[in-house]
Amino acid sequence: MKILITGAASGIGRAAALRLHDDVVRREGQGAELMLVDMNASLLEEFAGELSARGAKTRTFVGDLADPAVPAAAVAATEAAYGGLDALISNAGIISRSNLLELRLEDYERTFAVNTRPTWLLAKAAYPMLAAAKGCLIATASIAAHEPTPSLGAYAPSKAALLMLVRQLACDWGPAGIRCNTVSPGSTLTAITANSSSPGADRREGRNPLGMIADPDHQAAVIAFLASPDAAFVTGADFVCDGGARTQLMMASGMGNPWQRPN
Ligand SMILES: NC(=O)c1ccc[n+]([C@@H]2O[C@H](COP(=O)([O-])OP(=O)(O)OC[C@H]3O[C@@H](n4cnc5c(N)ncnc54)[C@H](O)[C@@H]3O)[C@@H](O)[C@H]2O)c1
Repeated sequence: MKILITGAASGIGRAAALRLHDDVVRREGQGAELMLVDMNASLLEEFAGELSARGAKTRTFVGDLADPAVPAAAVAATEAAYGGLDALISNAGIISRSNLLELRLEDYERTFAVNTRPTWLLAKAAYPMLAAAKGCLIATASIAAHEPTPSLGAYAPSKAALLMLVRQLACDWGPAGIRCNTVSPGSTLTAITANSSSPGADRREGRNPLGMIADPDHQAAVIAFLASPDAAFVTGADFVCDGGARTQLMMASGMGNPWQRPN
């Protein structure tokens, strides 16, 4: 299975690459062919070495996905390396920390340029390979795509736009046999949350019915399902993986946590 994954050097992308490779080995008896894309060259190379040691074929592509030329170049590198593509995982993303009143124009533009536009540009460039393979696209959105999120500037709007972009792709490309879906993680322990000061990852623990913060592997499992033959009839869907946080409206309204576990 030939897979391109962005934001592969860290967090959810890294966990997804590992999980996808392991699943391919289990299903096909041989390793995945992975194009790992990220702007963090040193972390990416280190991770590629780790994956190769597990039997995966890996190539890396270093670039800033906000540069409109980079998504197509990463797809072209995949075609040159592997001659096709079965799964496009558009996962890289950033948080922009500010309220909307103070948010600077350049931060608004960059948030959309990283979180939203690359999925379209990657998909557009990958269309012939995905159509030939009857492949799939999976993008990482967020529960912020569903609910306004305080102090994160254009993050929630950029992820909400991503959701609709992928649903639109699902409709446009279903007839070509290409499935397009999103995963919407809740708070997940990665660099993005470790670096967040507001609200801190530790403070979010317990703010969902399951009473825990997610591990990147929880999100990777959903991505792996969506990329697998088990999801053959799933397209235009968004899978919220948040421990139930989004449904827990009573906490937000100050009524306490009715799902609090007994000590
Ligand atoms: N961690 C969470 O709580 C959480 C919750 C909801 C959604 N998400 C989404 O999950 C995705 C992965 O985030 P994560 O939590 O693993 O964070 P992370 O910071 O650990 O990983 C993000 C990766 O994307 C790369 N990246 C960022 N901007 C890039 C760019 N312009 N070009 C190329 N690479 C770039 C980074 O170098 C990094 O390796 C993001 O889209 C994020 O918005 C995360």
